[in-house]
Amino acid sequence: MKIVSIVGARPQFIKAAAVSRALRAAPGVMEVLVHTGQHYDDNMSRVFFEELEIPEPDYHLGIGSGTHGAQTGRMLEAVEQVLLQERPDWVLVYGDTNSTLAGALAAAKLHIPVAHVEAGLRSFNRRMPEEINRVLTDHASDLLFAPTQAAVENLRREGIPEERIYLVGDVMYDAALYYGAKAERESRILERLALQPKGYLLATVHRAENTDDPVRLRAIFEGLAVAAREMPVVMPLHPRTRAALAREGMLAETSLHLRLIEPVGYLDMVLLEKNALLIATDSGGVQKEAFFYRVPCVTLREETEWVELVELGWNHLVSPMSRDRIKRAVVAQLAERDRDKPNLYGNGKAAHLIVEKLSGA
Ligand code: UD1
Ligand code: UDP
Repeated sequence: MKIVSIVGARPQFIKAAAVSRALRAAPGVMEVLVHTGQHYDDNMSRVFFEELEIPEPDYHLGIGSGTHGAQTGRMLEAVEQVLLQERPDWVLVYGDTNSTLAGALAAAKLHIPVAHVEAGLRSFNRRMPEEINRVLTDHASDLLFAPTQAAVENLRREGIPEERIYLVGDVMYDAALYYGAKAERESRILERLALQPKGYLLATVHRAENTDDPVRLRAIFEGLAVAAREMPVVMPLHPRTRAALAREGMLAETSLHLRLIEPVGYLDMVLLEKNALLIATDSGGVQKEAFFYRVPCVTLREETEWVELVELGWNHLVSPMSRDRIKRAVVAQLAERDRDKPNLYGNGKAAHLIVEKLSGA
């Protein structure tokens, strides 16, 4: 059986690392890996292939950045060429980026079955590019691998036939278990940045709705700057956010208050997360990793797809419209510790379940 996996952006490399390892271990399965080139800086792409031992992509499409239509359109055309050449039994797509949608659409139009890893997540906010990508990808897919019960219910509500939906758990939890120990052994990031364990706040911001709205951008960075009076704030800066801060003339001022660093590799990121006293983020993946490593989390968004973390009281949503609310939420969470941690994301075998289903399908 031949499976074409399509990746392109940072979180997809991490998800695909877990599944790719299981695919390579499965007898009679051949994976062809396609990198669209949506992310291309070394610290947004190459570092993950090296650290996570992902095989070299069989195809690198080199698409790069662009407006949504241009970027997705170029990907669609290039992925189609690969699929015409390879004629796989399945196309596997991950998450909710433009690479996900282009892969799913190209395959569905060629009548090649599509499997979607991380299906069924919804923010119910159609202004997010990711929400459009998720909904369209789910409805173009033949097999939908849901990470959570809430995701299964979303798919049912949208009328996706029951026999297409599989609750497998979260492949990011698989990755966290597998690479967590490796990070402890190999990462020297705390020494390099002279950070004390539990002596800093880790923050990431990159969502378009936060970076592209000057009011939100200012509220977030001013809120974090005020929080930084209580303890150091370390922020690996996504290139989109660096560009937005520069555009708004906020970069120099921000770097006086926050410890801005370049994006880091996954092993360094895991170590930074594990040792943070608190995480403040608008990232989907980082919200869950905070929970995996028992670090309280403030999410700088109005809503989240990972609703179970909010219901549990682990994750606190705070509107990125108000500097003072952000500061108050961060300070309140600094006091939070040691809550119960139920098993919300499976048992670390999601990748195995996905491969089992695909190879038997
Ligand atoms: C994309 C995904 C988002 C995901 C995020 C993970 C879409 C619509 N969005 O957002 O869901 O959470 O990846 O990080 O697919 N850039 C660089 N170097 C790079 C990559 C990007 O400088 O290697 C800059 C470019 O200026 C580019 C901008 O970042 O225009 C945005 O990149 P893009 O891939 O379009 O979206 P992300 O914001 O990264
Ligand atoms: N990540 C990383 N280095 C960084 C920032 C994030 O390795 O500098 C990892 C993070 O640990 C998580 C994933 O990237 O596993 C999340 O990606 P991102 O926040 O870019 O996207 P999202 O999950 O929001 O789609």
